Amino acid sequence: MSTSSTGERWGTRIGVILAVTGSAVGLGNFLRFPGQAAQNGGGLFMIPYLVAFLIVGIPLAWSEWALGRYGGTRGHNSAPGIFRGVLQTPNGSYVGMLGTVMPVLIYTYYVIIEALCLFYAWHYLTGTLAGFGDSVSAIGEFFASSLGLEEHGAMFASGQAQFLGFVVFCFFINFFLIYRGLSRGIERFCAVAMPLLVISAFIVLIRVLTLNPMPDTPDQNLMAGLGFMWNPAQDERSIFETLANPDVWLAATGQIFFSLSLGFGLILTYSSYLRKDDDVALSSLTSVSGNGFCEVVLGGMIALPAAYIFLGPVFLSDPSNIGTFSLGFITLPNVFNQMPAGNFFGFLFFFLLFLAAITSSLSMLQPSIALLEEGLGITRKPSVAILGFITFTGTFFIAYFSAGLQALDTMDFWMANFFIFIFATVQTLIFGWVIGPKRGYEALTQGAEIGVPRWIMFVIRYISPTFLIGIFALWCQRSLPGRWQQIITPPEGEPPVVLMVLGFIVLVLLFFSFVIAGANQRWQQQAAKGVST
Ligand code: ALA
Repeated sequence: MSTSSTGERWGTRIGVILAVTGSAVGLGNFLRFPGQAAQNGGGLFMIPYLVAFLIVGIPLAWSEWALGRYGGTRGHNSAPGIFRGVLQTPNGSYVGMLGTVMPVLIYTYYVIIEALCLFYAWHYLTGTLAGFGDSVSAIGEFFASSLGLEEHGAMFASGQAQFLGFVVFCFFINFFLIYRGLSRGIERFCAVAMPLLVISAFIVLIRVLTLNPMPDTPDQNLMAGLGFMWNPAQDERSIFETLANPDVWLAATGQIFFSLSLGFGLILTYSSYLRKDDDVALSSLTSVSGNGFCEVVLGGMIALPAAYIFLGPVFLSDPSNIGTFSLGFITLPNVFNQMPAGNFFGFLFFFLLFLAAITSSLSMLQPSIALLEEGLGITRKPSVAILGFITFTGTFFIAYFSAGLQALDTMDFWMANFFIFIFATVQTLIFGWVIGPKRGYEALTQGAEIGVPRWIMFVIRYISPTFLIGIFALWCQRSLPGRWQQIITPPEGEPPVVLMVLGFIVLVLLFFSFVIAGANQRWQQQAAKGVST
């Protein structure tokens, strides 16, 4: 039986697993994770990371997969449709709105970073990046001028058109694949891209694991590099001090969220295209484990150990050198430039980052396509055109207001930190309390190819939401005051970028609330004609 409102569904089981894993495996695994781990206790970071993985990672992934298939079997593929059905009220659609808006807005800046990965891969192929040698300042300048960090509009200045061309190209490939559809576009692409990504990562990993220390710094060897990443005590803080630090817990939980693509509304839509009796329990566990492997084994053993060998502990102890952007686009090129056959490995690494990013960005487009199709009853072509217009406007805006990455950072803060927590918590509460333990357990275990312990529903009902709300409260207390200051005191003499980004978010929310109002009418009419909604 086809479960989708448009008749679309996944072609194969491995196809959906690869697509969900592709959505999860992204820049978070290869760039964000190593920096977060090194700054938050090294090996000790794995304790809060594993706790967050068990308390929120697995339970939330299970509930999102089960909730998606539950909604799909009732004819819905979008978060608003699914929530309307589950909450049995038209207003339920508005509860699901974030699951559509968030991915769209995250896409607007994610595609720029994706383009940067491809741009770097290209510049390794053509030798430009290798030409900078070990000059941190030359690579830093290349990075800054590519993204137009010096002033707003710099990316559009003459001489910068090349990077902009890559952004447009990435934009085009995403929309081309989305236009081809779920199975012919996303599934087929992920079926090729994911194995290619893993093979490329293994080749780079083998290179890193066989690196010899430089003759004048014999102590900066591979074992010391792995120790820098993974030993529990990297600084003077005691084990207890590190584990009692709330920031370490916030970082670990945020990493689990971002990396597993939880609370974005993506898995919800992907799993809604499953059939009624397709397994979700094992598939979810497979993709969660696949993501963990790419993160801890591949992501954790490539970037920092390699950087340690060439740049040493002092350079890496400065957090500004291992943030997601600086590690990926300044520190690592420096490392590849000093490595034997670095041109080839630099190309391979940035190409695999590009594959990781595009399989994630594709998943950000499908939720709103699903809403436009099932809610307004329009076909793929106009849905893609409408979404293309919205995301193009957003990406243009973020690319234009590029000074200091302020627009990108603001969008990332509100979407990938603030709203994902809210949506994930709402989703967990709905699964645990509205669908409830009995129906929830049935939804999770129907067609399951592994045994699922019954107590998981206790975790989903009580433990995960309590943990999430606690972490969220802590995060708000630490992060919101600074952001509030940014809002109420815009810089003098400069465009109020933060306010403009917030204004754009409100516009997109308004647009989707109109779409949902239209969808509600349509669903109402369908219900009157006896079509289940
Ligand atoms: N999960 C995706 C990533 O890690 C968004 O980049």
